[in-house]
Amino acid sequence: MSEHQWPYRLLAPGPVPVPPPVLQAMSAKVLHHRTPEFEKILREVWVGLKFVFATQQSVQIIAGTGSAAMEAAVCNLLSPGDQVLAVVSGKFGERWAEQCERYSIKVHRLDVPWGDPVKLEDLEAALKSHRAVKAVFSQVCETSTATVHPIQKMSQVIAKNSQALFCVDAITAVGCMPLPMDDWGLDCVVAGSQKAFMIPTGLSFIAFSERAWKVQAQSRLPKYYLDIGAERAANAKGETHFSTPTPLVVGLNLVLKQMQSRGLNLVIERCQALAKATREAGAELGLQTYSSSPSSSVTALKTPTGTNSAQLRDWLEKERNITIMGGQDSLKGKIIRVGHMGYILNDDMTALVRALGEGLKSEGVQKAVAVLEKHLNSVEPLFT
Ligand SMILES: Cc1ncc(COP(=O)(O)O)c(C=O)c1O
Repeated sequence: MSEHQWPYRLLAPGPVPVPPPVLQAMSAKVLHHRTPEFEKILREVWVGLKFVFATQQSVQIIAGTGSAAMEAAVCNLLSPGDQVLAVVSGKFGERWAEQCERYSIKVHRLDVPWGDPVKLEDLEAALKSHRAVKAVFSQVCETSTATVHPIQKMSQVIAKNSQALFCVDAITAVGCMPLPMDDWGLDCVVAGSQKAFMIPTGLSFIAFSERAWKVQAQSRLPKYYLDIGAERAANAKGETHFSTPTPLVVGLNLVLKQMQSRGLNLVIERCQALAKATREAGAELGLQTYSSSPSSSVTALKTPTGTNSAQLRDWLEKERNITIMGGQDSLKGKIIRVGHMGYILNDDMTALVRALGEGLKSEGVQKAVAVLEKHLNSVEPLFT
């Protein structure tokens, strides 16, 4: 393994850096998933997940990445012949629409310009033109454009104009912005372990409202591994339906306990401070915010004309050992994306801003660092 002279800094919008005590706990030993010791941990994790999702419903764990939970929403809540409305405002919106189509579901797409939030009047009009839709699918934060949709208001519009279930991909939202599932009337919420949950990729989470569970019981799309009803039945006996990557659950338990003892607000405020600091520091460096509805979990910054963001990203990786993400499809070469979830210390951000300043040959570095300090010194990370 080659040693880099610079410390490794992972500042992507997932996977994210894992807090050192969590890494340690995950590597202590491998528990068997059918033991009293693991059952105790599982029960604690289920309580912690309900706390973070802000729901009275159970939250099911899937051994699979976020896309598995997205697919579980489709095959558990729909039946052959159903129609849905899918908000498509970037790569992940496209994915959910494609997953529905793969199950032969008729998808009405509500295309939203990349970087913009959905307009409520467009949502209302789409619901009125497609009265048969059984579900509306939307990202909370469309990670490919770092844009947040007005989920609470969307939920109200959907409830007022249809009987459709509202399913949200909150993979870069749960735990990094307010999203109270029950209060906002969300019927299905999916999340992923490698984001605000601060552990490696490999687990995803899914929760259904009471109404959604009734639909789940009647759903006729094929499902086996992703049968969330079977998972819930196993959970009622204190078990998981299949084998479980126990080290990930052990790490998750530690993070959830810390979130419960220090408060979810702290985690959310830390993400918000990092996002604000990144937008303002970016502006000092000549990088403008891309989105018109920027997220607190990830920020997309436009690189100046003449600077290819993919080259800037490669330079950061090779020369400074810092991982961030670039843009996809039409945004390739035009934006960089910086994540705000996970164990990110103030030093990591200062190093990034200095490196960006160097890569861009910007004169605004001192001001950018001052902006970072102003925002970040006030909010501690979850693990210090
Ligand atoms: C909003 C959103 N949806 C879906 C996914 C896909 O999740 P995964 O890569 O864990 O399957 C991601 C991953 O970054 C995401 O950010």
